Amino acid sequence: MGVVASAPAKIILFGEHFVVYGEPAIVLAIDKRAYATVNSSDDKCLHVQSTNLDLKGYFKDGVFKVEQGDVREARLKFEPVKVAVEKVLARFKDEVGLTVEINSTVPVAAGLGSSAAVVAAVTAAVGAFLNVKLSKEDVFRIALEAEKVVHGTPSGVDPAIATFGGALLFQTDTGFKPLEVKTKIPLVIGDTGVERSTRIQVEKVRNIVDNYPQIVEPMRKTAREIVLRAIEAFKESDLKTLGELMNINHALLYGFGVSDESLEWLINAAKKAGALGAKLTGAGGGGCMIALADEDKVDDVLQAIMQAGGRPFIARKTDEGVKVERT
Ligand code: MEV
Repeated sequence: MGVVASAPAKIILFGEHFVVYGEPAIVLAIDKRAYATVNSSDDKCLHVQSTNLDLKGYFKDGVFKVEQGDVREARLKFEPVKVAVEKVLARFKDEVGLTVEINSTVPVAAGLGSSAAVVAAVTAAVGAFLNVKLSKEDVFRIALEAEKVVHGTPSGVDPAIATFGGALLFQTDTGFKPLEVKTKIPLVIGDTGVERSTRIQVEKVRNIVDNYPQIVEPMRKTAREIVLRAIEAFKESDLKTLGELMNINHALLYGFGVSDESLEWLINAAKKAGALGAKLTGAGGGGCMIALADEDKVDDVLQAIMQAGGRPFIARKTDEGVKVERT
């Protein structure tokens, strides 16, 4: 049986990458979730298993041993889980062995915050299993520490949305504010199926930022203005403006070199089919794009993304952040 917790995936509507440099971003939690089930283990080891990735292994005295799947992949995926578990165990007095089973409906390495959703769910599940009281703020802090293993300089936007859910305006120095979204935002997500690493995309942007500071400065200002205009557009439920702002935001990300052929293909197909705007979401370099469309065009956009070779699905915003499902 065990204790089960879950956390949502996310899409960044505006501001990815710029958010790493202190600019604001707008992010929505969506109705795809990662689940973590925790049980005890007699051997004092941490056993981790991912049902959806067919990976299994355990940490004994900090050393990882794979039992199923590729050792490199398993270590890469389970290292953040270990960090999160250790942070919770640090608040628990006794030495315990645990098994953590991960089951996620979030596409992996696709820009939808899969790793943050997993570590938030694991943190909450281990906390509930050991009766260690964790506030949402605690879960966020622990998930952020674990995200540092995924890529060295996370802004915190992914762990924040996985923990708190809903729609957030996020900025590293001021933290996050819930954003009121009064209208339905009809969004189609297109998964290119191209897996990529957030770390590599973040490094790519860092090179541009370091090499061209004078050019990047006005890009940052534009990214900031886009978010400010988007906040107004949300207030007025102005989908047309939101779509146009998505297109401008994508152009900036393209300039950073984090779009690729697979993304451009789907973005163009969505626009041709009548989307109000489309952009990559998350770190880019493959992964997912998002398209905003009027309700009566959603199906056309969905079909167009499919015909262009993508895997489309409709994203619905969820207000549910991390939660313990079963104790
Ligand atoms: C990844 O979902 C978003 C990035 O901005 C990285 C981050 O904010 O940590 C690319």
